[in-house]
Amino acid sequence: MAADESTKTISKRFEALGLTSTPELNQKYREMLFNTPGIENFISGVILYDESVRQGLNKILEAKGIVPGIKVDGGLEPFNDTEEQVTKGLEGLDIRLKEYASLGLKFTKWRGVFKITDKYPSDAFFEENLTRMAKFAKVSQENNMVPIVEPEVLLEGNHTTTRCSETLDETLTKLFEKLKVEEVDVSQIIVKTSMALPGPESGVKALPLEVANATLRALKRAVPPEVPGIVFLSGGQTPDQATDNLNEIVKLKTDAPWQLSFSFSRALQEEAMRLWAGKDENVSAAQQIFLARLEKVSKARKGEL
Ligand code: 13P
Repeated sequence: MAADESTKTISKRFEALGLTSTPELNQKYREMLFNTPGIENFISGVILYDESVRQGLNKILEAKGIVPGIKVDGGLEPFNDTEEQVTKGLEGLDIRLKEYASLGLKFTKWRGVFKITDKYPSDAFFEENLTRMAKFAKVSQENNMVPIVEPEVLLEGNHTTTRCSETLDETLTKLFEKLKVEEVDVSQIIVKTSMALPGPESGVKALPLEVANATLRALKRAVPPEVPGIVFLSGGQTPDQATDNLNEIVKLKTDAPWQLSFSFSRALQEEAMRLWAGKDENVSAAQQIFLARLEKVSKARKGEL
C-alpha cells in the first residue's frame, strides 16, 4: 500500500472533501487506516511519508507484521524551461537513509513522472530523470534498503493505449540501462509502474483485456526476468477500474517471470477517505469499506475476481 502522500498531496486530497490537512489530522486519518483490524491479511508493506514516521506510525504496522518503507524523493522541480518536471532529492540522501534504516524502515521509494504529449517525454528528460532514479536505487542498496523504482507514466493526455504502452516500454527500457550503469542489483529491487491506459482526453475507454495486453507487452519487453516483483500504482483510475485491470493483468500474465501486485494509494484509500470525512463517528464504517476494498484488490492480485 502507498500511504506516502506528501504534505502537498494529502492537502489536495483533503481539500476535495472540505478538510484542511494538519499533521494532527493526517495522523488521525492514517492511524484509522493502519488500525483497521485484519489489514495484515492483505497488505505486506506500506510506503510512508517522513511525517508519519516522526509520528511513530511505522510501529503500528510493525506490530501487525507489515513491513514499513519510506518515500525518499523530494518531489518535483522544473526541468530546464520545459513542461517536464524532474524528481529531486539526491542531495543528502545517504545520510537520510542511514537515519531511516536506524528507525526500522526496510525499503525506499523514488517516484519520477513522465508526461505524454507529442513532444514529451524528451530524450534529455529521460536521461536526467532516469539517471537520478538509478542513483537513488544504488544509494538505497548500499544502505541495505530495497529500492522501489517508480517511473510513473502519467495518465493525463489524449494519447492512445498503444502510445502509452510504447512510452512505458521506452521508459522502463531506459531505466534498466541506467540501473546497469549504476551497477544496481536488479534482483533486489521492486519496480512500481503505471498500467498502459488511454489518456482521458482521448475519449476512449479501454477494456481490462486491452489494458492487460498493452501493459504486459511493455513489461515483457523492458523488465528483465531477474526482477522479483512489479507492483502497479493506480494513477487516478477509480478503485474499481484499477482493481479490474489488475485482475485481468494477473490472469493474462501466464509465463511472466515476476510477481505482480498492487501498491495503490488512491484506489485503496479513496472510498475510506470520503466516508470518514474527518469525523470520528465515521471511523468504523470507513475501516469497513477500506477492508472490503483491500479484500477485493487482494483477490485481483491473484486473478481471482
Ligand atoms: P496512486 O495509486 O494514487 O497512483 O499512488 C501510488 C503512488 O505511490 C504514487 O507515487
